[in-house]
Amino acid sequence: MERTLIKHALGSDREQDAIRIQGWVSTRRDSKSFSFLEINDGTCLTNIQTVVDAGIPGYDQIHDASTGAAVCIDGRLVASQGKGQAWEIVATQLEIVGRSDDSYPLQKKGHSLEYLREIAHLRPRSNLFGCVFRVRNRLSQAVHNFFQERDFIHIHSPIITTSDCEGAGELFRVTTLDPVDPPKIDGQVDYSQDFFARPAYLTVSGQLEAEIFACALSNVYTFGPTFRAENSNTSRHANEFWMIEPEMAFCDLNGDMDLAEAFVKYLIKDILENCQEDLSLFGKFVDKGLLERLKFVLERPFQRVSYTEAIELLLKADRKFEFPINYGVNLQSEHERYLTEEHFKCPVTVFNYPKEIKPFYMRVSDDGKTVAAMDVLVPGIGEIVGGSQREERLDMLKENLKRHNLTEEDYWWYLDLRKFGTTPHAGFGLGFERMLMFVTGVANIRDVIPFARTPGSAEF
Ligand code: 4AD
Ligand code: MG
Repeated sequence: MERTLIKHALGSDREQDAIRIQGWVSTRRDSKSFSFLEINDGTCLTNIQTVVDAGIPGYDQIHDASTGAAVCIDGRLVASQGKGQAWEIVATQLEIVGRSDDSYPLQKKGHSLEYLREIAHLRPRSNLFGCVFRVRNRLSQAVHNFFQERDFIHIHSPIITTSDCEGAGELFRVTTLDPVDPPKIDGQVDYSQDFFARPAYLTVSGQLEAEIFACALSNVYTFGPTFRAENSNTSRHANEFWMIEPEMAFCDLNGDMDLAEAFVKYLIKDILENCQEDLSLFGKFVDKGLLERLKFVLERPFQRVSYTEAIELLLKADRKFEFPINYGVNLQSEHERYLTEEHFKCPVTVFNYPKEIKPFYMRVSDDGKTVAAMDVLVPGIGEIVGGSQREERLDMLKENLKRHNLTEEDYWWYLDLRKFGTTPHAGFGLGFERMLMFVTGVANIRDVIPFARTPGSAEF
């Protein structure tokens, strides 16, 4: 008999004489002449209730149907007698596919998230993590739907690169040189003898490659893993995370901000519509205000303020910040959260940052002081999107490179884009995990990624 996924069994529109489900035992209750099994196969949050009569084939193994055991059950799908669900299964045959040892750690409920991180190989079987990873799957699909509906072309940008797009020096090196005895010239490692004949790294952003393709295919996006060797042990930073980076030719900062806002709202709407069951768990156990907040964000335009205005608001704030505020500083998470959570009480797009604190590729504004950058900040998280209009003028770009101590030789191909049919263009990066935190209310980035990579931690 073919397997029916539990989500389809529970969503059935009729009784079924013969059905087979396969999954893991969530709970078992025994009475004299039958047992109740709750089975989950990860396709939805709800377990299917199964009545196993003592007389059926396989019942002699019922003591092995303990929490965590893998089972295959054949039976009839019938209207449920109990409350809460429409269908249940009356088993006609029970097979224990894989016993679960008595030491199975998820027998008890209510483990802390910290403990569950230590058993990242088992936590997807818990209710919470099942919900997180189903929503993650849907969110990923919604990302593609959004861009495909708008004629953006998906580009697979490389994971190994030789340039530091963000210029922050937070690069993981990729090398095949002998770590104990690398070749050297004048006391320095000779990377010309390395695999790619030059220093190579894991990418910190697919933007530069996306720009190349936008300057040919008009509207493109990348969606890939991103690596940053930054030693920030916070609830919002991971060293490996996923980023979506659209890039649009013939587009300026306003168009960029419009797209970012439309994108964030589209993703929220999609999850509200398609992940109701999973969201209900987050609303109940993770963040009571979640659903209202998501609906609130959907209904209103994001506030837009310039960096200068944002600094003024922060200076006026009746509040002591750990990091002092003045014109020219990078906004810290406490500042971002003040703006979005306390002052505006909604998402905020901050634009036009001082050029000194932003990377070389951003377009210098007419004031000569700021660049056409923008960040979208959301309550509970802070920065979720970072983007900009790019410098499309060859001479200005050369100046930017100089100011950032970068050489024209290293960026000859990037300069070429400005030589051959240059055009205003703009794009941004959305942190996929941060977006997932926002739609689920889960407070730590380690709990929305299958296997978190953070300083000092990469067990699995
Ligand atoms: O602001 P960032 O550094 O922008 C860029 O990388 C640009 N090249 C994007 C572009 O214009 N194409 O990063 C973009 C977003 C941030 O807003 C944040 O959501 C996420 O990526 N992000 C991180 N997420 C998790 N862990 C980290 N360490 C992150 N660093 C950035
Ligand atoms: Mg940023």
